[in-house]
Amino acid sequence: MKQVGTCIAGAGIIGLSLALELHRRGRSVLIVDQGRAMQEASWAAAGMLAAEDPENPPVLTPLSQLSRTLYPAFLARIESLSGISVALRTSKTLQQMHISTATELSLLNAAQLAQLAPGLVPGHRPWICLQEHSLDPRDLCQALPKASAAVGNEMLEYTPWLSIESGNLPLDGSKVRLQTASTTILADTFVLCTGAWAGQSSLLPGTVSPVKGQMLCIAQPSNLDLRHTIRTPEIYIVPRGDGRIILGATVEPSGFEKSTDEATLQSLLNQAAAVVPALAGATILDSWSGLRPGTADKLPVLGHIPNQPNVFVASGHYRNGILLAPATAHVMAQLICGETPSVELAPFSPERHLQTIESTAIPARA
Ligand code: GLY
Repeated sequence: MKQVGTCIAGAGIIGLSLALELHRRGRSVLIVDQGRAMQEASWAAAGMLAAEDPENPPVLTPLSQLSRTLYPAFLARIESLSGISVALRTSKTLQQMHISTATELSLLNAAQLAQLAPGLVPGHRPWICLQEHSLDPRDLCQALPKASAAVGNEMLEYTPWLSIESGNLPLDGSKVRLQTASTTILADTFVLCTGAWAGQSSLLPGTVSPVKGQMLCIAQPSNLDLRHTIRTPEIYIVPRGDGRIILGATVEPSGFEKSTDEATLQSLLNQAAAVVPALAGATILDSWSGLRPGTADKLPVLGHIPNQPNVFVASGHYRNGILLAPATAHVMAQLICGETPSVELAPFSPERHLQTIESTAIPARA
């Protein structure tokens, strides 16, 4: 049996960032994950910190902007705790717009585009330049678990949880009891951070579901000077600054299968080459897919789970989990510690999805 302040299910970027933030506030934290830490959407992501992407739902803006503000300190803390550098790889994004949404924005002219992205074919739709950074999430996959361990947070990998009870437990003042195959965890609070798997739990049935993205890593051709991220409605092209370029991504409601297929990958490469012709025939170094945690309204689910005392959720970050991790950790730690979150969480409330929730013992899959 283990006793802890907060138990977090899910050791992706959301769960581990929250674990760090709760530790800062003096909580003891135990993280359980059904697999290995940082090996699902956090590992698969492109790493664009797209706080100003005009395609984002407008209601996401305060949370996105808070995250962008928190990011430098977030990375500095992870680096100093883990000893692993997590560099920002790009600092600008050239975004091609749907014409209908472009009017109020400052558009780039042909000379500006040629200077920012030599070799880009502008096409017929307008472009804007966003002050947006990107990082390589694989750096965070190395650093974040180490940082969490460095502050003393305990983590149980390959440990699915089988059931959860909350409310009036007859056990030493603990408020939540989580059962795994090998141990019972007693906690003051529990947070569901299981990404695309959150809707599999009976705590939040069907609220979050996987949306597959297939992706490619190609070698940057030697005749191409690509320093900025390029994003169109069809494709994004993210240079890592070390000879690798990431191309993504499909958006496929998929279930939990993570296959890739040659035709789709070739089509991603073709779409990239339509924007930057020097990419045609580039060497493919790697390909993979990941499962985004999708919700019906494309907004995360953040808050207290109704009728489950001391049980919270932070999931459903869809295409913006890497961006939103620091702000999610910040506002969820505030909520869990009884403070008023610095961003209004009503738009992200679990209630918007849920019809009925049982408050007794719930068999659940992590
Ligand atoms: N965040 C990029 C994607 O969802 O493809």
